Amino acid sequence: MNVILNGKSHVIPSDWADESLLFFLREHFGLTGAKFGCGVGLCGACTVIVDGSATRSCITRAGDVEGLSVRTIEGLAHGNVLHPVQQAWLDLAVPQCGYCQSGQIMSAVALLDETPHPAAEDIDAAMDGNLCRCGTYPRIRAAIVRASEDAR
Ligand code: FES
Ligand code: FES
Repeated sequence: MNVILNGKSHVIPSDWADESLLFFLREHFGLTGAKFGCGVGLCGACTVIVDGSATRSCITRAGDVEGLSVRTIEGLAHGNVLHPVQQAWLDLAVPQCGYCQSGQIMSAVALLDETPHPAAEDIDAAMDGNLCRCGTYPRIRAAIVRASEDAR
């Protein structure tokens, strides 16, 4: 079993196939950007992008991404150059405690890959399932708008 992880092909060892994708990424690869929040697909802290779609890695089996492309927040930047969404997050000082933010950013990247210039309703729909206990929602939305404007 293979997976394309942040652009590189890796084997999924058979003894990891039934583990969650979240634990596979964190424990097998040391990619700890995606976070364990609720563990049941309700908070979005564990969001990664699988074949272009924002995906809750806590409720996805590692074996289910066989042959697919997985992007994590660790794969967004090119060297020292941040992804435009990361840069917008930095420019607008979006995070507070930060725990939810990897998932927020990955959902935003998936949205902008699909819809480069989203309407407010598009942003609401895409980000609806990503919870932030610190209430950074206004800055998250502003950063998505900023990133979409930078892409013009
Ligand atoms: S930890 Fe996956 S959705 Fe909450
Ligand atoms: S920044 Fe603290 S939970 Fe979102």
